[in-house]
Amino acid sequence: MKKYNNNDFSIKDIDKEVTLYGWASKKRNLGGIIFIDLRDRSGIIQLVINPDNPNYDLALQIKNEYVLEITGVIKKREHSNPNLKTGEVEVLVSSLTILNKSEELPFEISDDITALEDTRLKYRYLDLRRNQLKNNLIMRHKIVTEIRNYLNNLDFLEIETPILCKSTPEGARDYLVPSRINKGSFYALPQSPQLFKQLLMVSGMEKYYQIARCFRDEDLRADRQPEFTQIDIEMSFVTEEDIFKLVEGMFKQLFKNIKNIDLPNVFPRIKYVDAINMYGSDKPDTRFEMLINDLTSIFKNTNFTPFQKEEVNCIVVKNKADFYSRKKIDELLEFIKIYDADNLFWLKYSDQISSSFYKNLSVEEQNSLIKNLSLEENDLVLIVSGKRKIVKTALGALRLKIAKEIDIIDKDKYNFLWVTDFPMFEYSEKENRYIACHHPFTMPNDVNMLDDKENCYARAYDIVLNGYELASGSIRIHDPKIQQIVFEKLGISKEEQEAKFGFLLEAFKYGVPPHAGIAPGLERLTMLMCNTDNIRDVVAFPKTASAYDLLTKAPSTVSENQLKDLGIEVIK
Ligand code: AMO
Repeated sequence: MKKYNNNDFSIKDIDKEVTLYGWASKKRNLGGIIFIDLRDRSGIIQLVINPDNPNYDLALQIKNEYVLEITGVIKKREHSNPNLKTGEVEVLVSSLTILNKSEELPFEISDDITALEDTRLKYRYLDLRRNQLKNNLIMRHKIVTEIRNYLNNLDFLEIETPILCKSTPEGARDYLVPSRINKGSFYALPQSPQLFKQLLMVSGMEKYYQIARCFRDEDLRADRQPEFTQIDIEMSFVTEEDIFKLVEGMFKQLFKNIKNIDLPNVFPRIKYVDAINMYGSDKPDTRFEMLINDLTSIFKNTNFTPFQKEEVNCIVVKNKADFYSRKKIDELLEFIKIYDADNLFWLKYSDQISSSFYKNLSVEEQNSLIKNLSLEENDLVLIVSGKRKIVKTALGALRLKIAKEIDIIDKDKYNFLWVTDFPMFEYSEKENRYIACHHPFTMPNDVNMLDDKENCYARAYDIVLNGYELASGSIRIHDPKIQQIVFEKLGISKEEQEAKFGFLLEAFKYGVPPHAGIAPGLERLTMLMCNTDNIRDVVAFPKTASAYDLLTKAPSTVSENQLKDLGIEVIK
């Protein structure tokens, strides 16, 4: 086995004889002397092969990415290289073996890569030789190790649950696996271990966790993969406060030990409704202000037709009016149209107010607007009016876009936030009915409110980090009677309950402890800790946005015989 890491040598190792292994990452020939950067997982050390070396001719044959074994002595470098950790030393090679050759690579293994992502995904094993991706995988490993340590110390049990299972209630489309033995029947890959972890509470496991693989056939985004990993946690005999404390402690230890960052002992909390009101999002990025202001009451008797709407809201971009030309503001309007907003009214504040709407207001409205927003020289006001949901969503998205454009987000900040009091139900336009906002096993805040679907809240909570939904969880229903009522309110028939969740309902007859849980997404956490906004950067072998694996070319067709075994016919 390899005894040394190439990156570990320094002045204190001078004259030590070592045998090292790795890849030739760069070769130079200077005045007959051959210099090779030998790279292993830990880093790089320079090798020196002099013309009088018996292996000199062999060394001349070495090309990039050849795999080498060398023996030599550590020497002080004549000219040190401050860019390398081993920059003060080099290895004077005495013997050399080429363990394997490499063809010319499709792209150079370098920190500033220019190759297209598709090419890099096709040759992912080569891309993983680069520092950035390698370091991301190391970070992911450290995170999992810290989490295991933390939870093991608190007496949690790590328990694996099935991958071939029945559909779970997370609400995305399932990946299905046909059964050969039971033709016409299918397993579903788990969208999460939700029901199994609840069953483990019925079993009396009390404190469970799992680094759990989850699978969801949904539209992919920059922070979504079709298969991903949750840090899945469930506990019995707990309240929200216990879960909050456990998870705060976990992230605090993680950030201290891995990044030497001190997180607060207690994370701030915001209610869902306030998050929507102030940030236009249930995953607010709180690293900057620019909150949404509700101007509806100022314009309640207005004669200005565009403001005679359900809501009139705005954001104020402080001291940036001069940055936003008419053309740029038109671009902002185009942007919010994605969110179904159809107007964007603007005002640039100075001695000479310029605005797309100001002169249409009454003097009283003009004064209230200026006073209400405490406007200062060079402030830009951007107003959207219309239906509440559209107004909030559009301004929430605009707030984020503008913050990036004017560069006011502090990238070194880690702002954790609990979002609480989620609605119990949400109306699905697609299904034309109310569905569970979290999942149907979430405890309502008040059972008596279940008929008032718009105002019934759930004992559900999310953790948001820098504008990403990092984790979701809830207090679960453990009373079969309440579970029945919730199913009824969701319009899930007795037959459907039995077919989908019969096993859980049966289990709930035999003494269910009160229980609750949460599941942070491992990739999102790793992304944030690695400062990347591309989820593929923290997955060893990721899929593209169309759920395709460019390396292995999956999914792919299968043979007629395989299909026959499964009793499946493909309709072309
Ligand atoms: P939820 O569906 O909110 O909750 O998922 C929890 C967390 O998992 C991560 N996540 C994803 N990460 C990458 N790609 C995806 N496609 C993806 N989907 C979700 C997110 C998210 O916050 N069973 C419940 C948890 C519970 O109640 O205990 C659940 O799965 O970080």
